[in-house]
Amino acid sequence: MATFQTLPGFREFYPEDLARRNHVFRSWRQTASRFGFSEYDAPVLEPLELYKAKSGDEIEGQLFSFTDKGGREVALRPEMTPTVCRLVGARANALKRPIKWFSIAEFFRYERMQKGRGRCFYQFNADIFGEPGCEAEIELIALLVQCLCAFGLTEQDFYVRLSDRNLWFYYLESLGLDEPRVRAMLSAVDRHEKYGDAAFEPYIKEFGPLDETVKSRVLGFLGVKSLAALEQVLASQPDSRLAARLADWRRVLEALDAMGLAGYVEVDLGVVRGLAYYTGFVFEAFDRKGDLRALAGGGRYDDLVQKLGGPALPAVGFAIGDMTFSLLLEQRGLMPKYIDAPDVYCVIGGANERRAAYREIHALRAAGFRVDYPLRETAFGKQFKAAAESGAKLALIFGSDEVARGAAKIRDLTQRTETEVPREQVVAHVRDFFSAG
Ligand code: HAM
Repeated sequence: MATFQTLPGFREFYPEDLARRNHVFRSWRQTASRFGFSEYDAPVLEPLELYKAKSGDEIEGQLFSFTDKGGREVALRPEMTPTVCRLVGARANALKRPIKWFSIAEFFRYERMQKGRGRCFYQFNADIFGEPGCEAEIELIALLVQCLCAFGLTEQDFYVRLSDRNLWFYYLESLGLDEPRVRAMLSAVDRHEKYGDAAFEPYIKEFGPLDETVKSRVLGFLGVKSLAALEQVLASQPDSRLAARLADWRRVLEALDAMGLAGYVEVDLGVVRGLAYYTGFVFEAFDRKGDLRALAGGGRYDDLVQKLGGPALPAVGFAIGDMTFSLLLEQRGLMPKYIDAPDVYCVIGGANERRAAYREIHALRAAGFRVDYPLRETAFGKQFKAAAESGAKLALIFGSDEVARGAAKIRDLTQRTETEVPREQVVAHVRDFFSAG
């Protein structure tokens, strides 16, 4: 008989996989709420129109789209940004500013599969609406860093590359490029890291040969890796917008430094982001050592809410993907072995002891402890093995001698110590053990 397989690039989550995913989501939720962000959700299926020309050619080419039974052109969401803009735009006047929202949701892109890239994946999205100043970027970069540090990752493990599409716009305009040329050049810059000079080919095809001075200036700008280098390149530029922009850069970097996060952030004008809607600062997080693709990406997109029919509303946000991030945690040994471990595993003699054990098992669960036990009568040795493998901290032993004495044994499975306690004191003892940490 033919067996059905998942579609290429789609994932199934067996309980141990789901436990890991939940562990990651739990921590992201907790971190976002500590930063004062509120959670929202939205439909998986959206009008195709929402992504056309808004997300950019790359995502548009990767859409899972079809015509529904009512003749509507629809697409599985490839990202959250247009959707959240619609949500916020529709109630912009009623929402308290700044609007700080987050979501954890599944997305679909028909991409070529590779390590850390699939056709369905989850993202943690966090966005701030209504704040035109770079304080929004500061808040979001701090949140991004903390979402990763919450798992024990440090500045040795990852870093955030910070760049600025405004700077690029002003700089390229000062080199004499008009808007269509600027856009084409930015997409060349986006691809340059991967394809080298071949990244300029689409530009040359569209606009003819590339002026050598422009090319060398672009390559020089793309190589800027510090604020000092940026100040130096811009020193000779008369454009006052560039000077004002430098002041924003200093504010962002100084604030992140004051938070103790300077070691996580690097100036890197090589990042411009492929998505079409970004208008200002852009950033991406990467693993420092590995060959993994981006862990997260985001930036400012001040025009999108309005382009989608809402009021003019400045916005900044980012998304962390679950796939590269989980790979990084596994590689660094930071994914806990026991996520859904019970607190207590009960080891039970025969049918008589089982009756006695039921009372304590239920009382412990009602008191808030995670308790597991074998559903069937099983040899003691196997039960102790199961207790050890479960990851439980305590074993509660109901042997015939203990039960006859109206007692149970509590074994600390880490310290390998054991005490006998009267059965009516089991809950209190377990509580003491866990509250002592
Ligand atoms: P993005 O850079 O397209 O940005 O995606 C953000 C993150 O989602 C990536 O860094 C990556 O970790 C993950 N990701 C993207 N595509 C895939 C895939 N095919 N497989 C696995 N993981 C993937 C956005 O989506 C923007 N909407 C982020 C944003 C929010 N900008 C403002 N607010």
